Amino acid sequence: MKQLTEQVRLRNGVILKNRLAIPPMTTRMSYYDDTVTGDEIAYYGMRTGDAGLFITGVAHIQPNGRGWTGELGVYDDKFLPGLSKLATTIKQNGTKAVLQIFHAGRMSDSKTLEGEQPVAPSAVAAEREGSEVPRELTNTEIEEIIENFKAATVRAIKAGFDGIELHGANHYLLHQFFSPHSNRREDQWGGSLEKRYTFIERVVDGVLGVVKEMNVPDFIVGYRFSPREETDPGFNLEETLWLVDKLADKELDYLHISLTRYDRATNIQKYADKSMLQYVYETINGRLPLISVGDIHTREDVATALQYSDIAAIGTGVLIDPKWFAKILAGRDSEIRKTLNLQDKELLMISNGTYAFMEMKTPELLVK
Ligand SMILES: Cc1cc2nc3c(=O)[nH]c(=O)nc-3n(C[C@H](O)[C@H](O)[C@H](O)COP(=O)(O)O)c2cc1C
Repeated sequence: MKQLTEQVRLRNGVILKNRLAIPPMTTRMSYYDDTVTGDEIAYYGMRTGDAGLFITGVAHIQPNGRGWTGELGVYDDKFLPGLSKLATTIKQNGTKAVLQIFHAGRMSDSKTLEGEQPVAPSAVAAEREGSEVPRELTNTEIEEIIENFKAATVRAIKAGFDGIELHGANHYLLHQFFSPHSNRREDQWGGSLEKRYTFIERVVDGVLGVVKEMNVPDFIVGYRFSPREETDPGFNLEETLWLVDKLADKELDYLHISLTRYDRATNIQKYADKSMLQYVYETINGRLPLISVGDIHTREDVATALQYSDIAAIGTGVLIDPKWFAKILAGRDSEIRKTLNLQDKELLMISNGTYAFMEMKTPELLVK
C-alpha cells in the first residue's frame, strides 16, 4: 500500500517529497492587467511548504486566451517579476512550484476579452448558459497559439518555476480540439480521433522541445485532462483512454485527471465496472505518475485514491484549512477545519470570486 509520506519520482527523475499535491485553483485575485497581486502572494504563501507539489491557478498564454478577470497572465515578459515572486513564494521547504497554463478558447466571452469575440476550433457555442458563438481559428492562428504555449514555458523557466502543467481539461482550448462538440473541422486539426489529437500533440511536443532546447532536464511538464464530456457529440472514457495511452508515451513527467469526485464511474456499459481513475491508472500501467483529485478530504480518502494513483491532490480542503497538509503530516487530523466560516474568509485569503464558486459547487462546506 502506498503511503502519503513516501517520496515520488517523476519521469524526469525529479523527486517530490511526498504523495500530496495542491491542484490548480484560480484565485481570481490578479490585477486587471493579469499581473500577480500581493493578496495572491499571501494566499500561496499561507498554503505552501508541506505538499510535495503545488500547481498554481491557471495562467493564459495570450490575451484572447483569458477565461475570466483576476486570472494570471504569462503572455509577456512584463509578467516575469510577479511570476518570479510567485515561484519563490511557493518553493518553500522543498515544495515544487508548477505553473498551470492554458488558452480558454470558447470558454470566455467578449466582456472578459474587452470586446473581442472568443476563438475556438469551430464556430460552435459551448452548452452552458450565456455562451457566445466563437470565431473559428485560422491555421495561422493555431500555429501562433502553439508558439505562445512554448513562449509561456520559456517564461515559466525564467521565472524560476519547477515546471508547467498544460491545462487540457475542463473544456478549455486543448480539450476543445479533442472534443467532437467544439471541433467540427475537416482540415488537419479535426475529423477523426487522431486528427482531433493533432493540436494536443503539437503543443506537448513543442513544450517538451523548449525544455530540451533550454537544457533544463529537471523542469517538470505535466498534462491535465478530463475523462469524458456530457455533450452530444462528446468524447467518452474510451477515447480518453486512447489519449492517455498516447500521452503516457510522451516524455511528460506526470498526468493529472480532472474529477469532481476521485472514485466516480462513467455511465457507458463497457466501463461501468471500475472507477474512471482505475481505468486510467491501468492504462498508464506505471509509465508515469498519475495525480488523482476530487473530494479528497481525509487520510482515508487519500489512501483510497492512492490505490489507483501515485499522488493525491486536495483542493477545496486546503482553501478551507491552509494547514491541511501540515496537520495530516503531523497526525493532527482531528484539528483539520472542515467548513469555511464567512467571518474567516478574508483571514484565509479566499477571494469573493472563489467564495462564489464554492457557494455554487460545495455550499455544504460553507457556514454563514
Ligand atoms: C476555486 C477553484 C478554482 C479552480 N481553478 C482551477 C484552475 O485554475 N485550473 C484547473 O485545472 N482546475 C481548477 N479547479 C478545479 C480543481 O483543480 C479541482 O480539480 C477541484 O476543485 C476538485 O478538487 P477538490 O474536490 O479537492 O476541490 C478549481 C477549483 C476551485 C474550487
